[in-house]
Amino acid sequence: MAGVKIRVLEILKKNSNDFVSGQRISDELGITRTAIWKNIKSLKDNGYTILSLTNKGYKLVDCPDTLTYEEINEDLKTKFIGRKIVHFDSIESTNIEAKKLAEQGEKEGTIVVAEEQTLGKARMGEKWYSPRGEGIWMSIILKPKISPEFAAEVTNATVEAVGKALIKIEPSVEIKKPNDIFVNDKKMCGILTEIDGELNLLNYVIVGIGINVNQEQFPESMKLKYTSLRICKNKVFLRKKLLCDILNNIEPMYEDLLMKIRKPSHRGS
Ligand code: BTN
Repeated sequence: MAGVKIRVLEILKKNSNDFVSGQRISDELGITRTAIWKNIKSLKDNGYTILSLTNKGYKLVDCPDTLTYEEINEDLKTKFIGRKIVHFDSIESTNIEAKKLAEQGEKEGTIVVAEEQTLGKARMGEKWYSPRGEGIWMSIILKPKISPEFAAEVTNATVEAVGKALIKIEPSVEIKKPNDIFVNDKKMCGILTEIDGELNLLNYVIVGIGINVNQEQFPESMKLKYTSLRICKNKVFLRKKLLCDILNNIEPMYEDLLMKIRKPSHRGS
């Protein structure tokens, strides 16, 4: 989201119980009424519900469940994981994009998120079903200074962190290390970790996480093997809350893991 639009949104969020006059936004941001109107329109196009009343101004009534930084930053407690979110409406695969960014020097902790993937990648060359707005399709860029032999432990820590968030919602969640989370023998989450590095040192690790959240049903060919939180609990979930919870879990677990690996006594177990 562009800078001015973010600042308009911030002002509306801070004053969400009230109308904020166009004059006030204009004074605070030093932009014209026309610029405000354009940004408000663009926010509405992004799914924000904003009331506009002549003589009163603008009032934010509802925010969309999009997986953007603006929608999770209030509850995000991390230092670096998720502090930059590269958000796509639609993309082939967040893992492919994250790899590109990592190659170009993107910093550790940046995540790539998409509302929809058109060529989502699963393990063993399979495709990951990633319908628009129904799941969490994200890839985390990590740059641990560790040897490739420990990469699997990064996946282990991630699956634990995702499982910890899911189990609060659905107690019968089963973590199947190193990559999967199941409920009632059906898959709810899969992780695809891709690495780049040399014999003794990783350049980067891309941890791609797919979580089935709000699918009401799956295509016939997937029904017996896959499930979603919505199917298990019979209600719709806010993906942004879950995303935030997961990022808050991943960072301390990742840091603990790195500390353990760096301790001379660590045997890779
Ligand atoms: C598996 O269970 O085989 C792993 C599935 C991983 C899917 C996620 S969705 C986000 C990220 N981008 C991809 O293209 N794949 C992973």
